[in-house]
Amino acid sequence: MSGGRSRERCTPCCALVIFGAGGDLAKRLITPALYNLAKQDQLPERFAIVGIDHNEKTDDEWRNGLHDFLEQLVKSGKGEFEAQNIDEDVWGRLAKTMSYIAGDFLEPDTYARLRDHLQERDRKEDLEGHAVFYLAAADRFFGPIVDALGKAGLADEENGWRRVVIEKPFGHDLPSAKALNARILKVLREDQIYRIDHFLGKETVQNIMALRFTNGLFEPIWNRDRIDHVQITVAESIGIGTRGKFYEQTGALRDMVPNHLFQLVAMTAMEPPTSFDADEIRTKKAEVFKAVHPLSPDAAVSGQYGPGEIGGKKVAGYREEPNVAKDSPVETYVALRLMIDNWRWAGVPFYLRTGKRLPDRWTEIAIHFKHAPLALFRDTPVGTLGPDWLILQIQPDEGIRLRFNAKRPGTEMHLESVAMDFKYADWFKQAPAVGYETLLYDCFAGDQTLFQRADQVEAAWAVVQPVLDNWAKVRPKDFPNYAAGSAGPACADELVQRDGRAWRPIR
Ligand code: BG6
Repeated sequence: MSGGRSRERCTPCCALVIFGAGGDLAKRLITPALYNLAKQDQLPERFAIVGIDHNEKTDDEWRNGLHDFLEQLVKSGKGEFEAQNIDEDVWGRLAKTMSYIAGDFLEPDTYARLRDHLQERDRKEDLEGHAVFYLAAADRFFGPIVDALGKAGLADEENGWRRVVIEKPFGHDLPSAKALNARILKVLREDQIYRIDHFLGKETVQNIMALRFTNGLFEPIWNRDRIDHVQITVAESIGIGTRGKFYEQTGALRDMVPNHLFQLVAMTAMEPPTSFDADEIRTKKAEVFKAVHPLSPDAAVSGQYGPGEIGGKKVAGYREEPNVAKDSPVETYVALRLMIDNWRWAGVPFYLRTGKRLPDRWTEIAIHFKHAPLALFRDTPVGTLGPDWLILQIQPDEGIRLRFNAKRPGTEMHLESVAMDFKYADWFKQAPAVGYETLLYDCFAGDQTLFQRADQVEAAWAVVQPVLDNWAKVRPKDFPNYAAGSAGPACADELVQRDGRAWRPIR
């Protein structure tokens, strides 16, 4: 969690260069976030946005394309862009800062033109030489773009700071993540690199630190003495849609686990940091991954969705999706059992699961407290005591819920599980932001707390590498093994049943 956010913290001026300016990420997430920042007057006062992509386009064509896309987002009410309409004044101010360069990311000439263009914009807008390069392009370009920025002198900081934002996937396994780190660290210092995991921008994820470390209530019970196990669920009802080509190379484990799910694990399991210093917090998170017990083959199970029904609508199976092989062995679901070998967590399983085409979009961290001793109730109609749960509801319905036992009114002692609820929307009268606003703002401000350091990324890949190695050797024979709209494959239930536990229902 970044320290106190204030207007002064944001840089007064900089350029933002977006590689992949015509791509999905730029349209769907970066532009809405920039618009929201502009609306809240939280962009640098002197600002220039430069888009780069391979298609020939004029500045106006690029700007108008983005405007049309924002309008579509508003009309469809889909996606994370919550605006009811586009404030044309705000858009006009933002659009004035935008210019476009057509160029091939692999051509040195592109970078020579970019350098000239930035110098020109710098002269006009007085940007003091500061620039953020946002790599919103396909991951195969990350290394080459950073090399080319270096060769063109664009990463030099003689006349202002230079920062590079790198999207996920950061590598596709441990060796490739290490190689990418080594390659970019030849050109950039670690403090110039902002590796994004957009889960860290979510308010509900940042709030985990506030919950744990600003309340005297939770920390004393946040350990193996009081906690039985933790369940982390990132369920999605969407399928693969048009991303078949990407997903066939990726699968659920790579796409979601060492990044998004592990951010949730780290926030839940980390030791209290001693300050808000970015490196202190990132060190505490990396220590969690380093303490994970090496995963044995039976600690991970996978699944792939077949045809089914979601929300009363029939949907195709994964193998029928566009650009997916008819006999694809790629997993769309994964469940893991992690053990963290340290004094706080030894013996407390962390069960993780994520999948596509599950019944609902639902992300939660559920903390199951140990049962109370039953002796007091032995001679009453109460047969067993239900567990106490603390549920951190990440999305949607963002909030925190405590479930505990209460006596049902009446002459006899009957218990019922009841809930205390905090909902962001009720309390703050606003839904939490998507996250890209915070991440962009922090990058302009030079705050790396919410970005991944090289060692964190590598430690996370190191945890899942044995599973990747194992899966590379054995082709799943039972795929598809769960129907779209169901809660996942039977093997995931068995994973927790082996320990005498059960998954919580999804939503
Ligand atoms: C992306 C994954 O990083 O995160 C997608 O590539 C996934 O497969 C998405 O759907 C989930 O993000 P969110 O913010 O919608 O939960």
